[in-house]
Amino acid sequence: MGRESEPSTAAPETSRGPREWPLEPSRAEMGAAIDAVAARIVEHVDSLPSQGAWGNADQADVQRAVRAAREPVPTSGSDLEGLLDYVFAEAVPRSFNTAGPGYLAYIPGGGMFDSALAAWIADSVNRYVGVFAAAPVLAQLEANVVAWFADIIGYPRAARGFLTSGGSLANFTGVVTARRERLPENFLAGVMYTSDQAHHSVAKAAANAGFPASAVRALPSDDRYRLDVGALEDAVKEDRAAGRLPFLVVASAGTTNSGAVDPLHAIADVAAAENLWMHVDGAYGGFFAMTERGRAVMAGLERADSVVLDPHKSLFLPYGTGCLLVRDGGALHRAHSLRADYMPPMQDDADLVDFCEISPELSRGFRGLKVWLPMKRHGLPAFRAALDEKLDLTEWATEQLASLPHVEIVAAPQLTVVAWRWRPETVADAELDELNRELLRRINARDHVYLTGTRLAGRFVIRICVLSHRTHDDRMEAALADVRAAIAELSAELTGS
Ligand SMILES: Cc1ncc(COP(=O)(O)O)c(C=O)c1O
Repeated sequence: MGRESEPSTAAPETSRGPREWPLEPSRAEMGAAIDAVAARIVEHVDSLPSQGAWGNADQADVQRAVRAAREPVPTSGSDLEGLLDYVFAEAVPRSFNTAGPGYLAYIPGGGMFDSALAAWIADSVNRYVGVFAAAPVLAQLEANVVAWFADIIGYPRAARGFLTSGGSLANFTGVVTARRERLPENFLAGVMYTSDQAHHSVAKAAANAGFPASAVRALPSDDRYRLDVGALEDAVKEDRAAGRLPFLVVASAGTTNSGAVDPLHAIADVAAAENLWMHVDGAYGGFFAMTERGRAVMAGLERADSVVLDPHKSLFLPYGTGCLLVRDGGALHRAHSLRADYMPPMQDDADLVDFCEISPELSRGFRGLKVWLPMKRHGLPAFRAALDEKLDLTEWATEQLASLPHVEIVAAPQLTVVAWRWRPETVADAELDELNRELLRRINARDHVYLTGTRLAGRFVIRICVLSHRTHDDRMEAALADVRAAIAELSAELTGS
């Protein structure tokens, strides 16, 4: 279709003559650009399984590419195809393949394609969802997503929440809400408790919320890396006796290190007895509550005052979608509601949500569609089945690892992380960390999977985290084959054979 037949974008004649609007493509230009981008995306996503697992461009090459990427501000436009060549051929390949099936590192998520379509739609329509009146149906659609999540974790109807950019921001807002609910305006005597296994975004949230580092007690964890509830009770008593103000306990429903789930019922009992706000960081593990096994491990989750879930982890969505849920929705409102003369009227009906009244943001992207579209398209059972598959794959991998000579399972999976290390008899304890680092390097060098390590009880361990919707049994078999091969290679070197 040519420009002549396009009423919406034809350059208008004005008293100053015909004008061009280069920032507004015509229908034909939009169609051509969409086709060009779609072709690249389909090719890229379709080839994810055959791409390397960790984008192992050599470091010198990466350095060169990054230097080349430092560019001056463009003073003229460029052709789209050339820019797409650069993005898809030069930039994207020099990164961890976080979307591929071999990504078993850190906390994967995969990135569902439906969500990418939703992002495209959301950014194209560019509606304003921060205020209910500006887009009531779209705001409701996002509120529906939040209500589905509340249902998954067993929250009551009065619960409210909102979508964030990720777990860190959700933890931050949880801490701010707890501070508002449990402490006086001068809150500096406040103390919060968590375990030595908590994600570092919890301590960061406290710092960002204005607390000194000494306000965060990282309590010891037990032999399964779960918060020691006795230590929590003792610490609260000690702090009260010293005149401090205990106000918050942050439990983990799935730690990053080992997938450990803290004893939520016992923690909820202490929180109730001590009037602490209980916040659960379920950024990695929370969505497993939709599976039978996950629900059993996370019993008591529904007693928390606030819960973080990360759709960009265990709902397989692309980066940029987290969630904070608060059991008493009024608390979110009390922590965030402020009025201004230039703003439209907010809703009085508690069922109608103005997101700017319950969250830190005013203008925000329409994140809800990135969750709504994939969930409506596939239905909850499809997500439950995928999470169950990850639990099965992790159990299988753990059995396989445990059957290998001298492999020690350091943290058996509570969800879908298994932490382990190789401990051949001939190697001294002091050298095991270095040996396992080398083993990890050799597994990853095969480039079928990408694993990462961490420290548990002072030891370096290798982790396998199974969470991408694209990871299936074929890739797990490849992972175990690479583990066996790397161990055999290192064994041969150790024995000099
Ligand atoms: C348990 C846990 N909490 C919080 C976070 C932070 O989430 P985000 O990276 O989305 O900010 C992570 C990230 O891996 C996590 O594993």
